Amino acid sequence: MSAPIVLGIETSCDETGIGIVRGHRLLANEIASSVDEHARFGGVVPEIASRSHLEAIEPALRRACITAGITLGNVDAIAVTAGPGLVGALIVGVATAKGLGAALGVPVYGVNHLAGHVVVDELHHGPLPDPTVGLLVSGGHSSLLLVTDDVASITALGQTLDDAAGEAFDKVARLLGLPFPGGPWIDRVAADGDPQAIDFPRGLTGPGDRERYPYDFSFSGLKTAVARWISAREAAGERVPVADVAASMQEAVADVLTARMVSACRDHGVGHVVIGGGVAANSRLRAMAQERCDAAGILLRVPPPDLCTDNGAMVAALGARLLASGADPSPVDFPATSNLPVTQRSW
Ligand code: KG4
Ligand code: ZN
Repeated sequence: MSAPIVLGIETSCDETGIGIVRGHRLLANEIASSVDEHARFGGVVPEIASRSHLEAIEPALRRACITAGITLGNVDAIAVTAGPGLVGALIVGVATAKGLGAALGVPVYGVNHLAGHVVVDELHHGPLPDPTVGLLVSGGHSSLLLVTDDVASITALGQTLDDAAGEAFDKVARLLGLPFPGGPWIDRVAADGDPQAIDFPRGLTGPGDRERYPYDFSFSGLKTAVARWISAREAAGERVPVADVAASMQEAVADVLTARMVSACRDHGVGHVVIGGGVAANSRLRAMAQERCDAAGILLRVPPPDLCTDNGAMVAALGARLLASGADPSPVDFPATSNLPVTQRSW
């Protein structure tokens, strides 16, 4: 008997994502982004995001079914992001999932977007080993996680004390006059820069920080240091070397993230690590993580870049995992929860 077909719906921020999986096999991953509508505001505008989801979700659903070669009648279960995210945006996906679930008579799982970022790697590299350390780095969250028991249990080892890694990329990109969202632009521009040109600070690496904050991050000081460095150049009438600033900033972020990730593996005796979330698409983070994991004898897993940024496949992957483990579906009145904690895998 072939594995069940799970439909995944993602509407937590500015991407309307519909994913369809059969077990660990990805059948379709349709994404409609409203990013261009937010760009002129320099950040995601919640009401625009909600309206865009409402317009995009049905066409995306149709396209996904065509790509997967299925009809909705073939769907065995539905998973939808129930949080965290923008509440108005989440409600569009949750309401769609509940309506479809009732119409098709299939179970609905309200799942955690952040756990989806970690589990999505199963579509590319197969089941996650137990235990695995997870480095989750997105636009709104940065955490080090201990994932055990087939994702049934996620423990937060540490998190950012201020800005998320993606937020740091976006804020520095704005200082450099690059478009929103800035992370992919910094990545691109940094390719022509010198990562050693400027020694930007590595947050929480001062005396005593290693003991006090072994698995936490801090990026607000980095953003301030970049702002000050740029202002000083401008005040002196000097040109700002955009590529060098981007490369040096990117180096600082990748350095801190990978150092903490390797420490978490060593301290907990874990030989596997997975990186997930939009920032996992960053080329320098991927390369540095590989170098340091190779040196430490840790097996690194990172999904391909298009599965790192928000998508419906990650939601479907988590739904498939829940279904396979015999987890109960969510109660029919499960809510959209903007601040769902990373440790709560589903409702
Ligand atoms: O996971 P994601 O798509 O959405 C959230 O759940 O937040 O992450 C979006 C974040 C943004 O801050 C974006 O700038 C960053 O991921 N990002 C990158 C890259 N691609 C996306 N940051 C650095 N380098 C990239 N290549
Ligand atoms: Zn995300």
